[in-house]
Amino acid sequence: MTYRVIPVAPFDYVVFGGTGDLARRKLLPALYRRLRDGQIVGGSRIVGVSRREMSDAEYRAMTLEALREFLDPNEANDSDIRSFLDLLFHVQVDVESDLGWDRLAALLEEGADKIRAFYLAVGPDLFEEICRRAGEHGLATAKTRVVIEKPVGSDLKSARKVNEAVGSVFAEDQIFRIDHYLGKETVQNLMVLRFGNVLYEPLWNSAHIDHVQITVAETLGVGSRGGYYDDAGALRDMVQNHILQLLCLVAMEPPDSFDAGAIRDEKLKVLKALKPIANGDAQACTVRGQYRAGAANGGAVAGYAEETGVEASGTETFVALKAEISNWRWANVPFYLRTGKRLPARVSEIVISFKAIPHSIFPDDAGAIHANRLVLRLQPDEAVQQWIMIKDPGPGGMRVRYVPLDMSFAEAFQVRSPDAYERLLLDVIRGNQTLFMRRDEVEAAWKWIDPIREAWDRSGAPPKPYTAGSWGPSAAIALIERDGRTWHED
Ligand code: BG6
Repeated sequence: MTYRVIPVAPFDYVVFGGTGDLARRKLLPALYRRLRDGQIVGGSRIVGVSRREMSDAEYRAMTLEALREFLDPNEANDSDIRSFLDLLFHVQVDVESDLGWDRLAALLEEGADKIRAFYLAVGPDLFEEICRRAGEHGLATAKTRVVIEKPVGSDLKSARKVNEAVGSVFAEDQIFRIDHYLGKETVQNLMVLRFGNVLYEPLWNSAHIDHVQITVAETLGVGSRGGYYDDAGALRDMVQNHILQLLCLVAMEPPDSFDAGAIRDEKLKVLKALKPIANGDAQACTVRGQYRAGAANGGAVAGYAEETGVEASGTETFVALKAEISNWRWANVPFYLRTGKRLPARVSEIVISFKAIPHSIFPDDAGAIHANRLVLRLQPDEAVQQWIMIKDPGPGGMRVRYVPLDMSFAEAFQVRSPDAYERLLLDVIRGNQTLFMRRDEVEAAWKWIDPIREAWDRSGAPPKPYTAGSWGPSAAIALIERDGRTWHED
């Protein structure tokens, strides 16, 4: 099976940080794949902007190297690569001064009638300055869109400042705050599953759902991102954005249409209904950890302090939380959230755990009756599994068994699952903001996160150590087991 490809209108994509890690690893390979599938047609340009003095030819050579490194060999085809490289240009700009802006303006003037996107693949401290200078040099036209990467700020106050600054140059419908988790296939599938089937919605509430789990586990450590990460920590890096966005999609009321405004209105209501966790509650409802040396990815690995060179850092690389939503649909349904680096497996999943049956008619020796679970696996191997009880096949007595109705997308459709950036980058050109965060959502998320961070700071307690390759501190297991529940395992 192949997927339907609808070409987008010609565009100019300007990538600030065009030689950086995100551009090389994600953005350029994603755009290449869209060209290879026929979605990017003639007349489009990709302009890498960086501080470096670099000719177009040198930028193309750098991109070729990146494609060789980050594409699967079977994805790279000579003629598509040549066509892709032809789209590339490089302009040297010092975003902190006026150097290079006129050249950029002159290049973009040649395509003034096209949709233009500025992708800010740079540190968040540069967002304000780039937007301001783009405005001053007349580049923020009505056809221009700006894409900013998370984190937007590091707390509510700084997020407001960034939003004000970007918003003073661009209107909200020109601003695309990217959360790449929303571009993942299974995340979008969650909406289709909920709102494209009659089956789930009547059960999607506290009468039938016992609890929800969201896990985003990584095997990697912080690697070379220690500088950024030590200031951020897992709460800001993963929970404020990716995990809360997933929670919103699980918990939101049905929007009246698949329209960006309608969906974002519903997500915002969920964020606003999150029960605050502060002081005393932070003790009971949150666990934070930091990895020590151990084993991961099949070998011995260093602890966080050795990896980053920061001794006695109080930064968490693991968080587990028990969140609650104060509304009719979700009263008394805990949402257990956890994320961490250097865990035993790379797995991201949402688990909807239904209530137990009220009464079993089966004899005791038939086996245990487990509560139904719906598991949405985001990665690896995207899948939806509905765990149900069935009769154990065979003649003789009545025995029951707990099995998944398993739908692995790769197997079912035989298509490559696109990288999240492939969809999101072109949604910007299409002007579709459904899978991007609106200003008020980002700020509402910080409003819930800030008191947790403040309670941790006030307590002064360091993160609990955990061995690399384990499922985090034992307190994270206690957090859910105290309530008579367990983390889902396949
Ligand atoms: C990023 C975080 O947003 O998401 C990283 O900054 C994290 O720390 C990454 O590793 C995880 O993304 P994915 O798509 O690999 O799960």
